[in-house]
Amino acid sequence: MIVDRQGRRFRNLRVSLTAACNYACTYCVPDGKRLVAAQDELSADAMLRGVAYLIEAAGIERVRITGGEPLVSPKLDAFLRGVSQLGLADISLTSNAQLLTRKLPLLLECGIHRLNISLDTLDAAAFRGIARSGDLATVLDGLQQASAAGLQLKINMVPLRGQNLDQVLPMLDYCLANGFELRFIELMRMGHLARDPNAFQRQFVGMPELLAMIGQRYAYSQAVAPLDATALRYEIPGLGFFGVIANESVPFCRTCSRLRLSSSGWLHGCLSSSNRHYVGDLLDKPRHQALPALQGMLVKALADKQDVAFTGGATVMKIIGG
Ligand code: 5AD
Repeated sequence: MIVDRQGRRFRNLRVSLTAACNYACTYCVPDGKRLVAAQDELSADAMLRGVAYLIEAAGIERVRITGGEPLVSPKLDAFLRGVSQLGLADISLTSNAQLLTRKLPLLLECGIHRLNISLDTLDAAAFRGIARSGDLATVLDGLQQASAAGLQLKINMVPLRGQNLDQVLPMLDYCLANGFELRFIELMRMGHLARDPNAFQRQFVGMPELLAMIGQRYAYSQAVAPLDATALRYEIPGLGFFGVIANESVPFCRTCSRLRLSSSGWLHGCLSSSNRHYVGDLLDKPRHQALPALQGMLVKALADKQDVAFTGGATVMKIIGG
């Protein structure tokens, strides 16, 4: 097992199935152009071999499927069926839920019990302003159907000054009423936001401000969360839970256990590092050749992790997914 000076190791793998997305969120793609799949994306088989090798070489226990938007990928079916056979402790998926109703039977069939859904507002006009595509009613319908089918849902909301701050309480009310755990993600300095500190500062809303807004309506107390969790969890007694992923206010790099595999075959040990390590060609090699080479890359990827805090990254979430 590869462990660093701070005792960190890779435990959780995020697999970006495709860079393509059916949204063009303002904080992700500044030019408003929806992303398409890269020419050099790996096949579902290659990605499955990658996951199997990483389980062995890095001790991966849990996998989260991301994108882009994973539900748009033609590889989804084959990848889900394959990854559910690898003996992982947990498989979850992050999606914008635009195609959730259509893909629900497949998710259930493959034993997916937990979804994280990106939803920044319940206001249809603001939704169009932020996501610049898709349809709010379709998302809400998908959430109801997934919930009725027994899936456990967390909702990711990125609070943005001037765009959806008025939605903090409505979103919380909605999530509490439906048994979803709302998680506020502090805006991260990624892509164009890393290059333009003014744009970042204009939109950024920190945890203290969020908690003050919530405190005006609800009494809450801190709840337990796993040691390597990114979210601080709070309980509103009798009503439910919410979380804050406070990248800026309360950095969590010290306990980070995440490794990312991009759809084009690059390993990323840290969102805040421009280093990445190409494993695409290793995945065609037999186990006895692939594993030692992979070990070497994992040592480098682990060394890419920030010591304390996220400082910004040239990479954008769309390529590497949450
Ligand atoms: N800062 C914070 N969150 C972001 N996401 C995408 N880009 C950023 C950013 N710059 C969110 C998406 C999704 C989650 C995986 O990451 O909204 O919910």
